[in-house]
Amino acid sequence: MEESILDSNRFGIKVGKTDGVEFKTTSLDEFKKKGFRLLIARVSMEDIGLINLMEDIGFRVKDTQVTYKHDLLNHSYPEHLQSSAEVRQFKSSDTPHVVEIAKIAFKDYGHYFNDERLAKTKCLEVYADWTYNICTNSDFADIILIAAENDIPTGFLSLKKLQSEGRFYASAGLHAVNPLHWGKNIGSSLVAAGLDWAQRMNLQWCEHNVLVTNVPVNRVMIKAGFKPSKPVATMHCWLDI
Ligand SMILES: CC(C)(COP(=O)(O)OP(=O)(O)OC[C@H]1O[C@@H](n2cnc3c(N)ncnc32)[C@H](O)[C@@H]1OP(=O)(O)O)[C@@H](O)C(=O)NCCC(=O)NCCS
Repeated sequence: MEESILDSNRFGIKVGKTDGVEFKTTSLDEFKKKGFRLLIARVSMEDIGLINLMEDIGFRVKDTQVTYKHDLLNHSYPEHLQSSAEVRQFKSSDTPHVVEIAKIAFKDYGHYFNDERLAKTKCLEVYADWTYNICTNSDFADIILIAAENDIPTGFLSLKKLQSEGRFYASAGLHAVNPLHWGKNIGSSLVAAGLDWAQRMNLQWCEHNVLVTNVPVNRVMIKAGFKPSKPVATMHCWLDI
């Protein structure tokens, strides 16, 4: 169990993050003794036995996700997905617009918001701060693609170059479109521009983590030729003293 310092500082309690496997051998009391108040586990949905064990000890499912992957060695993108939106690289004056889009687009989104014991204002800060970080700190993103109308951002997608077993790939960070502009292929254009960037960088694949329940983004991924893999459940457990 590792402490999530970001979450602990934000919510004012000691928060731990894990893949859950340790609950096969270790009781919750161990983590209580170490001062943890909230445990957040991202568990493979292929291990139903582990999920059931965690339900028995008090964990609750708070979201479910899949990783969509697109092989870049065999990349082609249907033309009808392109929108009229201009897609360009981020510039620092975009920062306040991009943070504002995140605040609207990620309201009530994901496992933090689905935990009624976490303050909603703090949950929204997760996304606002994360977006600010990708805009201002190159550790968080190697590129931010901006969809713009009259140069004002209407959507964005951040990507980071990562490595797995000696192979380099692009991992999407945050992806959102201002709700005023949803359904105009802007989200898809950003994904397409991300694939082009990753291909130019000679990366082997591009991946996006997506909530199973988020139908629009699942449609974006399918339209763009991504394939789903790695289903996981995010589970929370409160350790009351
Ligand atoms: C996901 C998101 C970026 C998509 O942006 P967008 O510009 O609307 O995307 P597109 O127009 O390219 O495609 C949206 C698709 O979802 C469909 N859609 C939109 N709302 C829908 C709904 N309520 N139910 C079902 N389908 C819906 C659209 O019809 C379209 O699919 P289609 O082309 O097959 O008809 C945008 O919805 C968003 O910002 N959501 C909130 C943040 C978020 O979820 N980000 C993704 C994090 S992984």
